[in-house]
Order: sequence, then C-alpha cells, then structure tokens
Amino acid sequence: MLRLFRQRQPEKSKAITPTELTQYPMPRHVAIIMDGNGRWAKKRGLPRAAGHRSGAEALRGVVKACGDLGIPYLTVYAFSTENWKRPQEEIDALMGLLIEYIEKELDVLNKNEVRIKAIGNLNQLPEKAVKLIENAERKTAANKRLYLQIALNYGGRKDIIRAVQQLAADVLAGKVRSEQIEEQLFASYLSTGGIPEPDLIIRTAGEKRLSNFLLWECAYSEFWFHEVLWPDFHKEHLFQAIYDFQHRQRRFGGLVNEENK
Ligand code: FPP
Repeated sequence: MLRLFRQRQPEKSKAITPTELTQYPMPRHVAIIMDGNGRWAKKRGLPRAAGHRSGAEALRGVVKACGDLGIPYLTVYAFSTENWKRPQEEIDALMGLLIEYIEKELDVLNKNEVRIKAIGNLNQLPEKAVKLIENAERKTAANKRLYLQIALNYGGRKDIIRAVQQLAADVLAGKVRSEQIEEQLFASYLSTGGIPEPDLIIRTAGEKRLSNFLLWECAYSEFWFHEVLWPDFHKEHLFQAIYDFQHRQRRFGGLVNEENK
C-alpha cells in the first residue's frame, strides 16, 4: 500500500528526479516568495532591474515545471503592498516586466492550459497592466492544468481587512447571519477564496520570514527555505523542495499516523 509520508530523512545529496517525486502525493498548492533578485544583480555589478528580469526567467521555468509535475496551484509573490517604498525607477522596471511577461507569455501559458489570476489590489497598478491582467484572466478562465496566482500589490493583512469589510457589509445587508461566520465562510471572502491553502511555501535567498504573504492561508503550510537567489532557482530546487515536503510528517495538530511510526 502506498504510504502517505515516510519518516524524516536527511536532505538527499543526489539530484531528485520527477519520477521519484511521483511515488508520493504532490503538494496541491505551492506558493513562492521569490527573493534575492537585487542581490543577484549586485553580485554581478548590474542594476537591480536586471535581477528582476532574470527572476522573471526563473519564474517561467518554475511555471513549466509545476505544469509538468501536475501541481494544480501555484502562487507567486510578485509585488507586495510594501514594495511601493522602493525607488520609483525599480517600481517602473517591475511594472514594465509584468507587462512584458504577460504580453510575451500569454499565448504559451494559454496553450499549456494555465489559468492566470491576480490577487491583491490592482487599483494602484498602471492602467495598461490592469487591462492586460484582466484580459489574461478572461482568456485563460477555463484552463484547468495549472492555476497560477500572481500576488500583485498584495498584503496578507490588507486582504484580511478587505475580507472583514465585505463580510460585515454582507451581514448588514442581511445576506449572512453573524452566527454563520466560521473559518470556511471567512476564507471564501479572501482573494484566494475557493482554492486550497498552500501545502508548501518556498522562500529563496536565505530570509526566513513570511513578509505579509498569505497570512491566513499558511496556518498549516510546510515551509522550505534555501540560500539560492531567486534568479538562480531551477527546477532541481523545486524538486528538492517537493522531496523534502514529501518526507515531512504533517499532523495538522493531531498525532503521528500509526503507519508512520
Ligand atoms: C524580491 O527580490 C523580488 C521582488 C520584489 C519581485 C519579484 C519579481 C519577479 C521575480 C519579476 C517577475 C515577476 C513577474 C510576475 C513578471 P529583492 O529585489 O527584494 O531582492 P534582494 O532582497 O536581494 O534585494
């Protein structure tokens, strides 16, 4: 019988193959904090924007790898509500990249059955970017292979506050009774409503914090941190993260399953 999770083992030293990963359940939802673009550029004496450009390339590879592995949901943190504090030149470069990414990739993503969805407050983004995102969301709405959520001008706390406001408005309008409010109903008001919570959260570049990403949704997520700078993140890193995830025991607050003892 297929055992769900094996005992914890040390990190495997030889490269993991996708075939090995298929022996155990895949994470349904992987979420990534793509950190280290700036350091990657600095190490090479390049402007930070060059790091973001290479970061977009790394993202392309990871989207493909997730599709190939049959992971149904991927969320990436592309721009946080705090990123507006960066120099205008860098913000413009990031917005330009976003526009370029969607313009260049939309057809390929669509052909590969990728559904695109932005989460976060799009109102403050350049109009061109918003139009492109809305068009990409419409065009890919029926795709079923990979649901790619791009967090843009996203902040976990702001998302929770927005959900509370909407829920309160629905209570006032008589659509919801306060006694009906429980976790599942509340979660349906978040911008991630309707999709499974992330099983695995990856953060690159050595930082070990959540930075306001998916605060409600990460209650039972497994975290995987690595020193690699995001532009250097390859599918082999993803395989390693999934391998490690598959060898952890998730207990969701319960006891260890008999089978894993
Ligand atoms: C963090 O690295 C990264 C970001 C703030 C942006 C992530 C954006 C991309 C990967 C670009 C592509 C995205 C799309 C959707 C086109 P950092 O700049 O904070 O790096 P540092 O900590 O080394 O300075």
